[in-house]
Amino acid sequence: MSELNKIALKIISNGKGILATDESTGTMTKRLESVQVPSTSENRLSFRETLFSSSSMKNCIGGVILYDETIKQVSKSKKNIPELIAETGAVPGIKVDTGAKVLSNSINEKITEGLDGLRERLKEYYKLGARFTKWRAVYIISEKYPSKLSIHSNAHALARYAALVQESGMVPIVEPEVLMDGNHNAEACFKKTSEVIKKCFEELFFHKVELNGTILKPNMILPGTNSGQKIDNKEIAEMTIKCLKESVPPEVPGIAFLSGGQSERDATKNLNLINIHNNTNFIMTYSYGRALQQSALKFWSKNIKDVENTQKIFNHRANMNSLAAQGKWTEEIDKV
Ligand code: 13P
Repeated sequence: MSELNKIALKIISNGKGILATDESTGTMTKRLESVQVPSTSENRLSFRETLFSSSSMKNCIGGVILYDETIKQVSKSKKNIPELIAETGAVPGIKVDTGAKVLSNSINEKITEGLDGLRERLKEYYKLGARFTKWRAVYIISEKYPSKLSIHSNAHALARYAALVQESGMVPIVEPEVLMDGNHNAEACFKKTSEVIKKCFEELFFHKVELNGTILKPNMILPGTNSGQKIDNKEIAEMTIKCLKESVPPEVPGIAFLSGGQSERDATKNLNLINIHNNTNFIMTYSYGRALQQSALKFWSKNIKDVENTQKIFNHRANMNSLAAQGKWTEEIDKV
């Protein structure tokens, strides 16, 4: 078993998933201001540290994705943040892209940047304790999008990123996110997501990326938020599995879904059904941002000093998703 494969399995095995707290300062500011909390570096750390010191970290969280600011911060107990995370048994990770910018010659679409100077930044993050990384590409759906240009250029960047990350001894999370926004139906999401993922693996293969030391972070197959399409959760699960079975090479050890704007409950329920019906060898787990943090953030914003009850709310969501990652979640257990 290669070292990278070992790290990947440590992050996603045994009902564990990933806590994505890698919101850029801009995004975190929006999240905090939406609940009337000033976005100071102290507040950003305070909320995140509350999550990292929760008891569910030990059994439910195999990896935490950090942002550049957080990986360099020091906890109240005077520990470096990666150290605090590693002590819970979770692997510290880091977002290394520098954001999605307008794609020249297709200005409604985005290309993710961050390759310049990446090798040097990776060395620094490794020294700080990171052992895996994330890079997110975004795609919109409409009749003409995503364009071939966006599919091709983002896949190329993801592959160059992944190769550099493995060279530095870390596991790359490859995240091609086909957005939920739009009035397309689930069939269109299936078709476009399949095309995007297949192209990513074509490029990863071409760049000689070791697939068993890679984690894929895709969207689930969902109807667009403005489509009005009614579809049951079982169908979502089955379409998602079919898409991944047909597009992801079997060497990839696991798939960790993003929540993408689904409600906390839907993200858990869909993951649970995916695991109940999973007829592949892939581990299927979570790499959730909003779907793990939303309720905890809402409570914390009104009770900034109440660490214990904020953690209770986070622990509940983490436990529910861990059960879902094993196909053991039920509506009954999720009642609070
Ligand atoms: P969400 O689960 O909120 O979509 O965030 C996951 C993530 O890391 C997006 O890049």
